[in-house]
Amino acid sequence: MAPRKIAAGNWKMNGDLAALAQLDALAGAVDGRCQVVICPPALLIHPMSSKSVPGIEVGGQDCHAKASGANTGDLAAAQLRDAGATHVILGHSERRADHGETDADVSAKAVAAHQAGLVTIICVGETEGQRDGGDTLQVISQQLAGSVPDCATAENTVIAYEPVWAIGTGRTPTDDQIAEVHARIRADLSKRFADGADMALLYGGSVKAANAAQIFAIADVNGALVGGASLKAEDFAPIIAALAAA
Ligand code: PGA
Repeated sequence: MAPRKIAAGNWKMNGDLAALAQLDALAGAVDGRCQVVICPPALLIHPMSSKSVPGIEVGGQDCHAKASGANTGDLAAAQLRDAGATHVILGHSERRADHGETDADVSAKAVAAHQAGLVTIICVGETEGQRDGGDTLQVISQQLAGSVPDCATAENTVIAYEPVWAIGTGRTPTDDQIAEVHARIRADLSKRFADGADMALLYGGSVKAANAAQIFAIADVNGALVGGASLKAEDFAPIIAALAAA
């Protein structure tokens, strides 16, 4: 099995019920040559999945590590699944920075998500200071080792490399920098997991129509996790098309 190709949209804390119309506009861009997943704010998961747009799957942006309990404001993985989600983003740098999530937290959440039948999109990425300090590959390996649980398989796990300094900034790493990190991720996964060579690896951070094809041509890039450019169909559709053609 070769890694599957995935265009994943991360709406973050953007969008409302009216924004679901973007899915209708996107429907024409989806042709089965790559998987398309949109991760809206949790309140929109059920209405989005209920629209049942063929070829568009729905994901959460976080889940709790426990199955249920006294955890005000949190959501269990099974609740996301019940609402129609098939995927969940875990360990996004905004969650790591704003909510103090550690690698161990991310790993525990991933176990819960897998138990609930969700595919996890586990994020790793260095800060600008870490890159400038020459620590990128070590940071990535450490985050991967700590954030990806032993129960990960090519079926239930997708890895997203998102340099923190490239998120929402319009800046992207060079092709060589992306290739270097993706090669490291592939090597680490292949060493640890029998099917590590088949896990899909996404690049994320300022992906847009203008740079998508170039990024998808890089070795071991199997798709993208897209923030800002996933909010509007006119921006996301050409990214999906570029991945389908890659
Ligand atoms: P961006 O966000 O595409 O807006 O840079 C990517 C992400 O944070 O997943």
